[in-house]
Amino acid sequence: MPELRSSSWYAGDDRNAYIHRAWMRRGVPADSFDGRPHIAIANTASELTPCNVHLDQVAESVKRGVWEAGGVPLNLPVMSLGETQVKPTAMLWRNLAAMAAEEMLRANPIDGVVLLGGCDKTIPALLMAAASVDIPSVVVSGGPMLTGTFRGTPLGCGTGVWKLSEEVRAGTLSQAAFMRSESSMIRSAGHCNTMGTASTMSCLAEVLGMSLPGLAGVPAPDARLLSGAHETGRLVVEMVHDDRRPSTIMTRESFLNAIVALAAIGGSTNAVVHLLAIAGRLGVELTLDDFDLVGADVPLLVDLQPAGRGLMEDFHRAGGLLAALREVRDLLSSQAITVTGAPLVDYLQDADIWDPEVIRSRTDPLKESAGIAVLRGNLAPRGAVIKPAAASPELLQHRGRAVVFDSIEDFRARIDDPELDVDASSVLVLRGCGPKGYPGMPEVANMPLPKKLLESGVRDMVRICDGRMSGTAYGTVVLHVSPEAAAGGPLALVHTGDYITLDVPNRTLTLDVPDSELAQRQPSEETVEGFAGPERGWQRLYVDHVQQADVGADLDFLVGSSGAEVTRESH
Ligand code: FES
Ligand code: MG
Repeated sequence: MPELRSSSWYAGDDRNAYIHRAWMRRGVPADSFDGRPHIAIANTASELTPCNVHLDQVAESVKRGVWEAGGVPLNLPVMSLGETQVKPTAMLWRNLAAMAAEEMLRANPIDGVVLLGGCDKTIPALLMAAASVDIPSVVVSGGPMLTGTFRGTPLGCGTGVWKLSEEVRAGTLSQAAFMRSESSMIRSAGHCNTMGTASTMSCLAEVLGMSLPGLAGVPAPDARLLSGAHETGRLVVEMVHDDRRPSTIMTRESFLNAIVALAAIGGSTNAVVHLLAIAGRLGVELTLDDFDLVGADVPLLVDLQPAGRGLMEDFHRAGGLLAALREVRDLLSSQAITVTGAPLVDYLQDADIWDPEVIRSRTDPLKESAGIAVLRGNLAPRGAVIKPAAASPELLQHRGRAVVFDSIEDFRARIDDPELDVDASSVLVLRGCGPKGYPGMPEVANMPLPKKLLESGVRDMVRICDGRMSGTAYGTVVLHVSPEAAAGGPLALVHTGDYITLDVPNRTLTLDVPDSELAQRQPSEETVEGFAGPERGWQRLYVDHVQQADVGADLDFLVGSSGAEVTRESH
């Protein structure tokens, strides 16, 4: 067993060891400090993060497993981000949560950590932190909600809201019925039950090797979540003994596995930004192009909203993540190990599909070639992404006239104006929504369609934005345009009336304006003014240091790892 880092706090009989032990001796036996692993439970439970509120109960199960294996469990509340609650966007604080968790993991006398997350940004932030400190770490996701129904039909979290609110605007659903649906969707503890960002990142944490295989997707109220949490408590103690750290688990092969899985499960576009950021913390070489090269031809096998029909409870019943991965076994690296020390692929042998409607076989996919496509061109020199599986096939090659909005407020003020010069072939452009511009890169790219077009039956249009879209959303939406308008990207130069060509098969996004004319144009003033430039606090630090989406939107000084060493004493 390697020497435990907690020993540098607790071992010996000098004054400092005395101080470190004495204050901790509140009910734990003296032999708690005899060199056994101290395990933090990095817990994002919060009543303001409703998707994670049950994690205190999950933590109790983890603790039992840790004690049982001879470790000492310690609850460590960490900054929690409620996706639906915090303004202007939870993404603004992903890096702060990651930085705060990183610092507390390093500063405290702990040897390993169990990461408890669920709601969208929580698992990415925890993984970024664990990667930066590089002590034995394992994720327990809080699991998805049970399926809620409205008028006898399943109502998916997020996806249902987008659909029903468009129906109200189209005049096909009454406002009163829409209000009644509000109490139907969120049925139990857990994160969103669509294949949105939370479900995606829970699954990808497992594919990266950072969760007990088979645990991702177990619904939050399912007894197996707690037994899995208990087993994870035992496991993390073993990981400390074996010195199995994030850097030995999350290798380039693991990330490529995650890209394959992202396509096969129809996961969220937000995973692109999160995986790039986690890889950045580890120094693993991963680029935007890897998503296209490795993932683009992978078929979509899992029939869940927003790309398909079912919800996470269906996925779990049908065999879950491992059953889906078994179908793409040949595309996965056999080298990449998991927290158990065994390769991920070892867990696929007995992973059967119990419902071939929900998890399709490789020979009968929902869609061929379902991965993220990376687009480039004079409108996105450093890249933009689109999820073809969630788009309309007939719009994947499209040329249309731009209708430009300088901010989300500008968009909301004008989109339903009957006088707005827009038709179904127009391309809606929304800028000022990137990491610096908003700031925080919010999920606004899935712009609602103009009311007059909805009323005439239009259900999708090409939309382009430097922001993100909710993992529960759908449509022909070009996202994460880099560089963003507020960082000097050419998106700031588009005029209403310019023609834009989207060509997904050829991976291009082109503003059909000659270079010579573009060179004459000045960025839209509103975009520049919209980028208000926060004066103090986190937002100031964020805007000064955030990187563009194509490399993960982490802060420049957080890229790379600092390890776990702390050399100085506190007294
Ligand atoms: Fe928390 Fe969707 S709002 S997971
Ligand atoms: Mg979200």
